[in-house]
Amino acid sequence: MKAIVHEKTEGIPGLSFRDIYDLETKPGTVKVKLKTSGMNRRDVAVTTRHKADQPPLILGSDGAGVIADVGNDVNGWQAGDEVIINPGLGWLKNSEAPPEGFEILGLPDHGTFAEYIVVPAENIETKPEHLSWEEAGVLPLAALTAYRVLFTRAKIKQNDTVMLPGIGSGVLTFALKFAKAAGARVIVTSRSEQKLEAAKALGADVGILTQSDWQEELKNEAVDVLVESIGRATFDKSLGIIRKGGTIVTFGATTEDEVKIDIRKFFYGQYNLLGSTMGSREEFRDMLAFIKKNDIKPELDRMFKLSQYKEAFDYLKETKNFGKIGFLNE
Ligand SMILES: NC(=O)c1ccc[n+]([C@@H]2O[C@H](COP(=O)([O-])OP(=O)(O)OC[C@H]3O[C@@H](n4cnc5c(N)ncnc54)[C@H](OP(=O)(O)O)[C@@H]3O)[C@@H](O)[C@H]2O)c1
Repeated sequence: MKAIVHEKTEGIPGLSFRDIYDLETKPGTVKVKLKTSGMNRRDVAVTTRHKADQPPLILGSDGAGVIADVGNDVNGWQAGDEVIINPGLGWLKNSEAPPEGFEILGLPDHGTFAEYIVVPAENIETKPEHLSWEEAGVLPLAALTAYRVLFTRAKIKQNDTVMLPGIGSGVLTFALKFAKAAGARVIVTSRSEQKLEAAKALGADVGILTQSDWQEELKNEAVDVLVESIGRATFDKSLGIIRKGGTIVTFGATTEDEVKIDIRKFFYGQYNLLGSTMGSREEFRDMLAFIKKNDIKPELDRMFKLSQYKEAFDYLKETKNFGKIGFLNE
């Protein structure tokens, strides 16, 4: 089968679209013929985490398709079923943190940028009917992450003010839609006026440039919850803008992992700092029920063919996207 494979050279130069061996079902797994798959910033990071001397790896965490084969000991699924893949391996029940052994599809196991994938049967769910194949393929990882950040970790409530810096992000476009559906007031930032306008069209109440003076622009706002994923470039501003006693949830660091905190300012302000990462199968199912109930669809920026992988990785690396990018199988 054809796939986007990483091998031999660290970074994006190690990618190719080529023939690779077929994957076979084992007991407890299903083989899915992928119709679509979705990109995440993680796919760029994996090209450096996956080392040059390791065996070839198919990238990709998100996908949707049709079951082609069912392994022994699998009940309730059959060939032809339309499914969506939960990329979190080994995290079934809700818990404070992922269990030992938790992994994400696409490193170390083969991922979704391929014609077929074999995954544990516990990682598939019925494709939501209100989503197209493109929408279903780009949904899983980002929507699950946004769901846990807002509802499990920050526990947002109706009328809370939620701030989302860097709204072009795949995860944050879900967070915007989820927070609005939950009745929150939403403030967004972006480096691009165009993305701010797009976010307002989706229901954002206030939009300001990331590079602006947040204190000045938001002097009449009280931010209850701020979702931080940009990292060093914005962390200090983020901490400075939440109300006393407010909460930052961090789940990403697109621009550098290490930040400095003025700890005195932090404890005088009685702030809360929470970490989050993806979510359990229970949260994945709750998220699917939530998007169905509220008729929420992913914000789809662009789909590429798998063979256009170079263009797609450049597009993501340069953060040209507003929302999700995906691949259509040819
Ligand atoms: N822990 C987890 O489970 C988890 C899950 C998903 C993602 N993540 C992480 O969370 C982050 C967001 O993921 P994503 O896939 O949604 O990313 P994405 O689509 O690539 O978006 C990142 C956004 O950050 C903003 N940004 C990037 N560089 C910036 C800079 N130098 N200064 C200011 N803003 C900047 C941009 O917003 P504008 O273009 O609007 O300015 C960009 O759209 C990534 O770091 C990713 O690795 C973690």
